[in-house]
Amino acid sequence: MNTSLIQLVHIPQRGDARGGLSVAELGVALPFPVRRVYWIHGTKPGVSRGFHAHKKLHQLCVCVAGSVRLSLFDGKSEESVVLDSSAKGLLVGPGLWREMHDFSPDCVLMVFADAEYDEADYIRDKLTFISYAST
Ligand code: TYD
Repeated sequence: MNTSLIQLVHIPQRGDARGGLSVAELGVALPFPVRRVYWIHGTKPGVSRGFHAHKKLHQLCVCVAGSVRLSLFDGKSEESVVLDSSAKGLLVGPGLWREMHDFSPDCVLMVFADAEYDEADYIRDKLTFISYAST
């Protein structure tokens, strides 16, 4: 069975005439309790980021301003998606090599994670990842 690497979730929108309001709530848009939130912003022109995988970490990525292209690779196939809306979240589970490209100058990418930062959870070498993914 082929399952897409791109797992999108809809973020409920509660905006009104005054403007936008997006909600990431446990059990609705968030499938895990959040232990860390970080955001990537002010990315310089032409810069790409990521280039790593995690062994255990689950993340939900939401581009709350601007746009960015995320590509995911499971060791065999690669798929990419443009995140350009606060209503769209991308779930990135463990065992996926991720790259972020084509940041717009105004991009703010929020990332919700189910664990604290732990460098030991990273795989930063692509060949090591391919070997890890094949086991
Ligand atoms: P990294 O995850 O490598 O960013 P990217 O994949 O987007 O290039 O993180 C960059 C640096 O920031 C690295 O030195 C680790 C540090 N960092 C933290 O200290 N805490 C965090 O929660 C994150 C995500 C990164």
